[in-house]
Amino acid sequence: MKILVINGPNLNLLGEREPSVYGNDSLQSINDELSIQAAAMGCEIDFFQSNLEGRIIDELHDARLKYNGVILNAGAYTHYSYAIRDAIAAIKIPVVEVHLSNIDNRDEFRRNSVIAPVCAGRIMGFGRHSYELALKSMEFLVGEKR
Ligand code: DQA
Repeated sequence: MKILVINGPNLNLLGEREPSVYGNDSLQSINDELSIQAAAMGCEIDFFQSNLEGRIIDELHDARLKYNGVILNAGAYTHYSYAIRDAIAAIKIPVVEVHLSNIDNRDEFRRNSVIAPVCAGRIMGFGRHSYELALKSMEFLVGEKR
């Protein structure tokens, strides 16, 4: 099993960005932990981060040929990027939506996820553990039809 983790805008600043909301861990340390978990699962894992919508879309397109599933934290694009939503809908591999924070108990504008209807599932509100749970979910998602 090969999994790609995509992080969108501002997630490169994890650790220093609003730590009361997003925690003190850097993206690198979260990714390092995921690599250890993936190795224990016998799974290959790669990571990609971009602040640019089009680069995230390109990465989703490429992922359909190289990976069995994608873990995606689209950051604020979650709430309004129909282009990312369409890219997810265009590929057949499962995409799991992830958020560190619980987007349902924050600002009103964060409650809407335009990508949720085309994702296999959503895990949010558990800080860095949201990514770990998403990786775990790939064990049963991969191989199943969306
Ligand atoms: C986020 C939640 C989004 O609303 C926000 O724009 C982010 C991070 C999260 O992981 O909690 O950048 O996706």
